[in-house]
Amino acid sequence: MVRTRDTHDQASLKAAALENLWMHSTDWTQMAEEGGPTIVVSGQGVRVTDSEGKTWLDVHGGYASVNVGYGQSEIAETMLAQMRNLTYFPQGTTTEPLIRLVEKLGSMLPGDLERVWPVSGGSEANETAIKIARAFHKKRGEPGRYKIISRKGSYHGATAGVMWLGGGAGLSDYEPAPPGMVYAPQPNPSRCELGGTTPSECASLCAQAIEDLILFHGPKTVAALIAEPITSAGGAIVPGDEYWPMVRDICDRTGVLLIADEVVCGFGRTGKMFASEHWDLVPDLMTIGKGLTSSYLPMAATVATTRVADVFAGQDNIFRQALTFGGHPVTAAVALKNIEIIERDGLVENSAKVGEYFLSRLHELKERHEVVRDVRGKGLLLGIDMTADAKTNGQADQRSGLGKRLTSKLRDQGLLLKCGDNAISMGPPLCITREDVDEIVKGLDIAFGEI
Ligand SMILES: Cc1ncc(COP(=O)(O)O)c(C=O)c1O
Repeated sequence: MVRTRDTHDQASLKAAALENLWMHSTDWTQMAEEGGPTIVVSGQGVRVTDSEGKTWLDVHGGYASVNVGYGQSEIAETMLAQMRNLTYFPQGTTTEPLIRLVEKLGSMLPGDLERVWPVSGGSEANETAIKIARAFHKKRGEPGRYKIISRKGSYHGATAGVMWLGGGAGLSDYEPAPPGMVYAPQPNPSRCELGGTTPSECASLCAQAIEDLILFHGPKTVAALIAEPITSAGGAIVPGDEYWPMVRDICDRTGVLLIADEVVCGFGRTGKMFASEHWDLVPDLMTIGKGLTSSYLPMAATVATTRVADVFAGQDNIFRQALTFGGHPVTAAVALKNIEIIERDGLVENSAKVGEYFLSRLHELKERHEVVRDVRGKGLLLGIDMTADAKTNGQADQRSGLGKRLTSKLRDQGLLLKCGDNAISMGPPLCITREDVDEIVKGLDIAFGEI
């Protein structure tokens, strides 16, 4: 229906949203019952203000993506200056902001991860990584390597291919699945699928399971393993220290490329610039997004080591892909300024320090509330594992509505945090203070108490 409004008062804005907006992961009938969506109009640091003047603390920092926090006017100025100067580029040319950005990334990333393929979002970055991995093997004379191993319960994006990674619930609407998706166990020390009773034991069992899967399928059929160094989905799963050295070694021995998805973990989220650094891990391909621009503009990238990228050298041998918005000069300028702010303001260090404090406060909640089964994470990627039944440690049934009830209790206290039924994931802006953390923990304490 075509309709114009000259006054965008609150009621008409909400009505327009209910009628025309297809919001992410949201049921609009329920939203209608709640009186329409919260419409945010401004933000500063860790807080946003809505159209009714109420201020909220954004505990999950957008989608764990607003790393420098809201309202950095320097970024807005950078954007405007670049827009005034140059907004796009003719085919076959490139731009200065993009060159400066890829040079900067090449100097920051672990090992020889230094050839950067820019894209517009994390899903595209992972699609690109998979395409590069398959093409890499084909060009080297191993065309049978097409299978991709991911870990159960992981999330790597929403587009037609990568949505099948992790094999999560709710995919049946989109069948058929593409061939070659292989699922390995998640190295979750608090719920080790393979029965490991310590983080080390769970790590070794889960790493060994990857090798077993590769051998079962035949190494010559497996292109890559994709994994987050610390799994953000399901509440910040940190593997035991044995895991990554073992997995790196398995990939080396079997010729399987290791893709580290640092879309969430990168740019200080876990208390290091990249989470791979916690284990001196150098993957063959790394994907980055979210914190690359702190979500001020859409940008992500797939980065290859020299060994991988060099396979695509030479005329008639290129990686055949083009994306209109990949490497946009305005987003590149924003990414550069964003990285400058992360470094200048010590946000990686703040993530490590305040994250440690946050985790210690979450441990207090675990002592006090039976529903809290485990708390975990690194830096400001934190999670709470919940149980519906403290005696059996059983997980909550989705019908229990635990997540929804918690979300609503937290809203009552000015905290925006979407809770799951079994786990809560938190990824606030990296500029968060201890006082902000106290406010969140107090809110959680009250919410758990009332539940
Ligand atoms: C680990 C991980 N990888 C990839 C993606 C996909 O990124 P995007 O939503 O930018 O496509 C996400 C999104 O949340 C993610 O959490």
